[in-house]
Amino acid sequence: MTQHTLLEIKDLVVEFDTEQGRVRAVDHVGFSLGKGRILGIAGESGCGKSVTALSIIRLLPKPVSQIVKGRILYQGQDLLTLPIQQMQRIRGRKIAMIFQEPMTALNPVHTAGRQMKEVFALHFPDMTAGEKHAKAIQLLERAGIPDPARVLDKYPHQLSGGIRQRVMIAMALSCEPDILIADEPTTALDVTIQAQILDLIKTLKNKSGMSIVLITHDLGVIAENCDDVAVMYAGQIVETADVHSLFNHPLHPYTQGLLVSIPSLSKHSKTRLPTIPGHVPDLARMPEGCRFADRCPDTEDICRTHPPRLRSVGKGRTVACHLVSRPFEQKKKRI
Ligand SMILES: Nc1ncnc2c1ncn2[C@@H]1O[C@H](COP(=O)(O)OP(=O)(O)OP(=O)(O)O)[C@@H](O)[C@H]1O
Ligand SMILES: [Mg+2]
Repeated sequence: MTQHTLLEIKDLVVEFDTEQGRVRAVDHVGFSLGKGRILGIAGESGCGKSVTALSIIRLLPKPVSQIVKGRILYQGQDLLTLPIQQMQRIRGRKIAMIFQEPMTALNPVHTAGRQMKEVFALHFPDMTAGEKHAKAIQLLERAGIPDPARVLDKYPHQLSGGIRQRVMIAMALSCEPDILIADEPTTALDVTIQAQILDLIKTLKNKSGMSIVLITHDLGVIAENCDDVAVMYAGQIVETADVHSLFNHPLHPYTQGLLVSIPSLSKHSKTRLPTIPGHVPDLARMPEGCRFADRCPDTEDICRTHPPRLRSVGKGRTVACHLVSRPFEQKKKRI
């Protein structure tokens, strides 16, 4: 890939203190985000997508979690070593995040307008009240809200899910960030609104040139919206590729399992990650070898004893599987 890398995650390890002891939720994860690209992160529930995203903006729950290792390079600067004040300036201003359910991110006791103005006050301390009002209206218009003045006076519970998400997007984009991290931004919405919100995110991205990390369970969303994909399984990246290579020629048996079970990737089908028999292993009892071995149709002895390394297998492609040289078609029949 020739595009300029804006964000690079290297060897990230995140652990939690739990009742079962210390568990590793993110295990040596690495990927990069190119300027102006949309990177999709896919994987079943609990595989570490949100923990990875929260690590980037350093908003992991404290004190239960700890980033044990790794680097998060934003324009070459390691965010993990930045003093907290500097990190606060980057968060929101350079790297913004939107979440699955905007109700939890919005404060229920303040109007949308007041919350937007608080964000401006934080990032633009010299702005007058009139300027803040004008900016809020302009951002909501840009987020596709037809009657922004009315929305400004509403409390979150008075707004529909789609409008709440548009308010969140407007707030996230208020500083024109370089990177938007969208963690399941549409799963709480119905299908039509989902498509509208994703179209909005893409339109805003095309206007501003920002880069996006789009976390989703929905492979249809990945196929429609992303340039690059990282597939996570049990706290690790098992495969990365550009979107066309991944969908046309998936290499990892986990990725293949996810794709083979999808009936259709048409825009109108609501394709969730299908169920592969078995479960993701418990964080407190990870197998010694490949974490997918128990669910994999191709497991061999080496898979039980040695964890596969994520290795490069061509331009922009990595995969963590001992048996990856096997032809895809042969495996497909057996899943
Ligand atoms: N505060 C916490 N304390 C203990 N373990 C946690 C905590 N937050 C997350 N985890 C664990 O870390 C692992 C990764 O969680 P994460 O939320 O990143 O999954 P995810 O891929 O985002 O899943 P989903 O698709 O359901 O959002 C899970 O096993 C989860 O139980
Ligand atoms: Mg999550």
